[in-house]
Amino acid sequence: MPQAARAVITTDMFTTIFEPFRIHSVEPLRMTTPGYRAAAIRDAGYNVFGLHSADVLVDLLTDSGTGAMSRDQWAAIQHGDESYAGSPSWYVFLEAVRKLFPFAHVIPTHQGRAAEKILFAAIGGPGKVVPNNTHFDTTRANVEFTGAEAVDLVIAEGHDPAAQHPFKGNMDVEALDRLIATRGAENVPVVMITITNNSGGGQPVSLENLRAVRAVCDRHGVPLYLDACRFAENAWFIREREPGQGERDVADIVREVAGLADGMTISAKKDPLANIGGWLATNDDALAERCRALLVLTEGFPTYGGLAGRDLEAIAQGLEEAVAHDYLRYRTRSTAYLGDGLQRAGIPIVQPVGGHAVYIDARGLLPHVPPLHYPGQALVVALYETGGVRGCEIGTVMFGRQPDGTEIPAAMDLVRLAIPRRTYTQSHVDYVIEVCGAVAERAPQLTGYRIVEEPAQLRHFTARFEPVP
Ligand SMILES: Cc1ncc(COP(=O)(O)O)c(C=O)c1O
Repeated sequence: MPQAARAVITTDMFTTIFEPFRIHSVEPLRMTTPGYRAAAIRDAGYNVFGLHSADVLVDLLTDSGTGAMSRDQWAAIQHGDESYAGSPSWYVFLEAVRKLFPFAHVIPTHQGRAAEKILFAAIGGPGKVVPNNTHFDTTRANVEFTGAEAVDLVIAEGHDPAAQHPFKGNMDVEALDRLIATRGAENVPVVMITITNNSGGGQPVSLENLRAVRAVCDRHGVPLYLDACRFAENAWFIREREPGQGERDVADIVREVAGLADGMTISAKKDPLANIGGWLATNDDALAERCRALLVLTEGFPTYGGLAGRDLEAIAQGLEEAVAHDYLRYRTRSTAYLGDGLQRAGIPIVQPVGGHAVYIDARGLLPHVPPLHYPGQALVVALYETGGVRGCEIGTVMFGRQPDGTEIPAAMDLVRLAIPRRTYTQSHVDYVIEVCGAVAERAPQLTGYRIVEEPAQLRHFTARFEPVP
């Protein structure tokens, strides 16, 4: 038996999560006290985005660009060629992308939202409607910025934090069909599907659902695009949970998913294991031309987009590592480990646990805080003050403000604890579970917040809050 195959069998015999790497260089964390943190969060307007990250002990704000790169990625960076046009690093990147996502045109951007901005600037506009399972905040903002409408069509189970469904990120196919029929296919420039569904709890989308969405798109002649930030985790869940997929190579599943779509946007800061980057890909020649024209205006020349040659190299190597089964097994099991610990502490979470994060049901934990007093924000602040753990509100602060200026409660008030890739150890996660347990014990005493300052778009990043007595 080859040595690699023997190693896989050995680790499968034990229940302890095996991290398929060892630590090569370390970053110190600075200890803080509850009093220090209470002052820091007050100075930040009770918005954790305003904190100095050196004041955070375990940073679960996002899994975006916060992962640890591998030795081989750092080595690849040394191969970065910074030629303005036609750099070898561009071709390394292009080949790595096309190996998984064989689209005709690949347009590199500095991150995911830049790809979204270019795509929707080219196809959006007043009167247009863009369906998605659940738009991520930047995707929604980029759709709405053009005057188009962003509509979320996740299945009913996707709105119920406690519902057990293996693919809660699935799109409601009948609702999609109805929407396109009612609004007219000519007004639906694209159907988007987010894998995994970040704003809906990091829940995966099944191959079966993707095929059904494709069939609806075909019937109406509307293209299908992926928001593929977490394509590898989604493919792993397909392998683990979807009948008949258990023996497949993840890279193969990714290629099948890509083959169902006409294009994609992605942030390389997630599953591609890089600290920066993204791309837009499409099979539509005319659209690619319009997008490249916009790219040159805002990002850069088409063979580097918004990136340095060294970034292109890091992403290419990251794509190889992202689909490795040992890595994905460790990744999804360590996220589930946090979820299991929180449940043991009696904390309600979105079930089942998704790939990159655990989502606490803040509305469930703090039923006495009305949604317009932001239970998610109250919980995020308490986690920071208590233990220096930084999470992210995904609820009424993020989604409550409507394009017409009114404010309504979001479908759910969640707190996302996103796990940076290959960054924290199991002891860090045990600490987080302990902090969450301590906060849950005094949940009835936590009060809500009101917003005292907010920008017109994406308010959760910079809004300032004050406690509601
Ligand atoms: C599903 C999804 N789409 C798009 C984006 C935007 O990517 P970026 O942060 O690189 O602009 C994100 C980032 O978190 C995301 O999770």
